[in-house]
Amino acid sequence: MEIPSELIPFLRSSGRIVALTGAGVSQESGLRTFRDPMEGLWAQYRPEDLATPEAFERTPELVWEFYARRRLKAGEVQPNAGHLALAEMERHVPHFTLVTQNVDGLHQSAGSENVVELHGNITRVKCSHGCGVFSEWEEIQGKAPTCPACGAKLRPDVVWFGEMLPGDELATAVQATRTCAVFFSIGTSGLVQPAAALPLLAKQTGAVLVEINTELTPLTPSVDYFFQGKAGEILPELVRAVWG
Ligand code: OAD
Repeated sequence: MEIPSELIPFLRSSGRIVALTGAGVSQESGLRTFRDPMEGLWAQYRPEDLATPEAFERTPELVWEFYARRRLKAGEVQPNAGHLALAEMERHVPHFTLVTQNVDGLHQSAGSENVVELHGNITRVKCSHGCGVFSEWEEIQGKAPTCPACGAKLRPDVVWFGEMLPGDELATAVQATRTCAVFFSIGTSGLVQPAAALPLLAKQTGAVLVEINTELTPLTPSVDYFFQGKAGEILPELVRAVWG
């Protein structure tokens, strides 16, 4: 991979960096992205059929089963070289914010500390009526358990299609984006709002945009640097070249 020579000192002297990550970063850990077809019994469904409040209302057991399997899978896999390189980057950059759309917790397992989870985390559950009871999944027994406070169904603490993002997380992400010198968009198709708007906001406020993806995306024409390839290969090389 060729790293443009001016980018290396620029990144080294950038005190404020934001990295937005998507399912592509976890792909090399063995987790499927949202655009990959589902396997086996689940092949008949699209994520949009299962990851909605309406689906949960209609078939809570099915939705629990879907998330239970995803959680099991996420618990079985390890962070990959891309996750580890982002954790390493954070150690070198005074103000580093990792904004992720992933719900698998792999960035934290890799050692990233300043992580903003825009779409929640599948290891937690919450009351579907908003009691705000958050528990670890392990404590929950049964297929579609109920809230100890109000008796409503408990659900995974993730953002479903058509739902608002958690306000504090979004505000933190927007604030970091507005003030960063460099914004990385890594392993995300850039199709789902409002996360997809963050790179363009960064650009409007003067940041340099860097994209890492195996494919071109709708964002690619707007970026300053595009590295085509796997996050688990490009990120370690970039971190080594800049801070190694
Ligand atoms: P997608 O599945 O939409 O996109 C994954 C992106 O990663 C694609 O652009 C791939 O080309 C790229 N990719 C795949 N493997 C890669 C690799 N090894 N290295 C680098 N890039 C790779 O996933 P997201 O963009 O995360 O929302 O999807 C965004 C949101 O849409 C998700 O958080 C989810 C989904 O609907 C909710 O659940 C609310």
